[in-house]
Amino acid sequence: MKSIKVAATHPYQAWIGTGLLDRVGEMTAALRSPCPVALVMDETVAELYGELVASSFAKAGFRPHMYRFPPGEGSKSFELLSHLLEFLAQKGLGRGDLVAALGGGVTGDLAGFAASVYQRGTAYIQIPTTLLAAVDSSVGGKTAVNLPSGKNLAGTFWQPEAVFCDCATFATLPRQELASGAAECVKYGMLGVSGLLETLTRDGLAASWMDIVPPCVAYKAEIVRVDERENGLRRMLNLGHTLGHGVEKLSGFTVRHGEGVAVGMAILTRAAERMGFCEAGTFRFLQRALDALGLPSTSPFSAEALADASLGDKKRQGDHITLILPRNVGSCGLYPISITELLPIIRLGMEEGS
Ligand code: NAD
Ligand code: GLY
Repeated sequence: MKSIKVAATHPYQAWIGTGLLDRVGEMTAALRSPCPVALVMDETVAELYGELVASSFAKAGFRPHMYRFPPGEGSKSFELLSHLLEFLAQKGLGRGDLVAALGGGVTGDLAGFAASVYQRGTAYIQIPTTLLAAVDSSVGGKTAVNLPSGKNLAGTFWQPEAVFCDCATFATLPRQELASGAAECVKYGMLGVSGLLETLTRDGLAASWMDIVPPCVAYKAEIVRVDERENGLRRMLNLGHTLGHGVEKLSGFTVRHGEGVAVGMAILTRAAERMGFCEAGTFRFLQRALDALGLPSTSPFSAEALADASLGDKKRQGDHITLILPRNVGSCGLYPISITELLPIIRLGMEEGS
């Protein structure tokens, strides 16, 4: 088992191992006295791991209350948030009690948001069961729900008490969900985790995630230490996300988050190369990794539609938007542009040919 410190204003450890689900209760008991716990999970995860985690909590003296919701991005809504908050109240949870998010990024974002506002702030822990949640959403304290206008437009920064990541849970992930998480690993390779793209290109989805998750989490933890509230450096973690959120939105959320990020990274890397911002050959290198993981590198939507949908992203500031563009594999930079420049840049990144 590995442990990585996330030195946010509220510091905590991210524990990464295999077979951790069974030990979540005892490990939580080492951090705080047994209390009621709202165990929040979608129906798929509840079926697979709900009882195991609930009984682990119960064995350690906690009193688990299971909250299940329909799987999918559609559940990251104010309606469900309000339903969950009412559940916490009905079960009599107090501010000193605990919320546990067991599942993927949807569960973590929703349960984290609920914990952050319930009785003006209640403790929560993250128990990621998707690769995406393990390497990204469970760490760093961003919580959110979506609005009709766009992704994650309402949310809070609220750090968990701990992250317990059991990589054995990835064995039950459908192939496309695993690939979606691998896109965020590709992102870390593009940002600066050395050797990652080579490993992912060689091993594809058969990669040893127990070796890949810790360097990704350590990379994110360092960024969160420096810029917890995303005033500068943390924006780098949004590589591929502005266009990615546009793709997700246009698809009615049938395109997964990581798939959208893959498309966003590919379009912007090709454009950056063509604009002379990025070293020649970087796009090919990225594309090989995406191909090996079965991830898309082209948009199913027109440049015009993508530009429109992406401008609703919260990274937009008035007439400007800041793009994250690769300089080469392992280094990216912030690139503020006027919103009128977005469409030509997307077109450049979508044109076929070298
Ligand atoms: P998800 O939570 O919807 O999980 C994907 C699917 O996998 C779901 O159908 C779920 O039921 C299923 N699942 C989960 N674990 C499983 C397992 N072990 N075995 C079988 N099936 C399993 O989505 P996700 O891809 O984990 O997360 C995407 C969300 O995360 C998006 O909403 C995105 O905006 C958010 N996100 C947040 C941050 C952040 O910093 N807060 C960062 C990146 C992404
Ligand atoms: N996933 C982006 C962030 O946590 O900042």
